[in-house]
Amino acid sequence: MVAKAIVIDCDPGADDAIALFLALAFPEQLNVLGITTVAGNVPLSLTQKNARCLCELAGRADLPIYAGCPRPLLRPLITAEDVHGKTGLDGISLPEPQMPLQSQHAVDFLIETCMRSTGNITLATLGPLTNLAVAIVKQPAICQHIHEIVMMGGALTQGNITPSAEFNLYVDPHAAQIVLTAGIPLTMVSLDVTHQAIATPERLRAIRAINSPISAATVGLLDHYGVYDMQRYGFSGPPLHDPCVIAYLLQPDFFTSYRASVAVETTSELTMGRTVVDRWHVTNQPPNANVVESIEADGFYQLLTQAIAKLSEP
Ligand code: BDR
Ligand code: CA
Repeated sequence: MVAKAIVIDCDPGADDAIALFLALAFPEQLNVLGITTVAGNVPLSLTQKNARCLCELAGRADLPIYAGCPRPLLRPLITAEDVHGKTGLDGISLPEPQMPLQSQHAVDFLIETCMRSTGNITLATLGPLTNLAVAIVKQPAICQHIHEIVMMGGALTQGNITPSAEFNLYVDPHAAQIVLTAGIPLTMVSLDVTHQAIATPERLRAIRAINSPISAATVGLLDHYGVYDMQRYGFSGPPLHDPCVIAYLLQPDFFTSYRASVAVETTSELTMGRTVVDRWHVTNQPPNANVVESIEADGFYQLLTQAIAKLSEP
């Protein structure tokens, strides 16, 4: 098996953290070329630092980590400390990272990596799409070099930051519009899917039982991050949004999807960032996305538990 070459663009964030663990546990399947960070759940100064702390914890201090855009294209930055805490990783305490932050800007790393490739790069986007949008504007030729974008973002039914919008697309809807109209093969993993992937106490018990620094970090993060979603939605645990993207890359047969045209609202304040998915092709717009509809949640949690156990091996 040839490992998929991927770049992970993220804003850690508790669920981004767990997505990174999942991605780093299976190097025979995913060859992570680098991690680019963006402002989102918390400001960029924290997301880049958190990415480094997490890679060190996962034993991957060798990975290059890049800082990207500190704010969305047009709108002021909105962060989510109410969900992820002031540090973005509340619930755990990690030492200051020793591994360096790369001096190259994340946007330039994305452009260079895509242009060097023969069209086999997969981008896993776990935060607002600012870095990728700027890369597309700066070097449009990258679009032909990207095999696929798998994006956590959007909502088919209700939003989580407004009644209609999901956080990542709400934070930078203009960037999302650039990405959605770039002609790059794209898979959308929306809230409607991630809300099926609930970290119930029973599923967390299996992870806790691994009893290693990385399992303790996973559980510690979720204990903090779970409170918000459990109170708001009445879930029996927090939904693991971003890890669903990585699971899709590792195990696509856990998911069902359909092709549709997807657009994003960028003008109405009321529905800003709303993803409009033409499920029944009423607009006759050609499909620009593979829209994920369901996840096999038990299989997903078995995979995650296996990943945490693998990363815990001496
Ligand atoms: C998305 O928003 C962020 O808070 C999470 O990290 C995830 O990427 C879910 O709406
Ligand atoms: Ca995220």
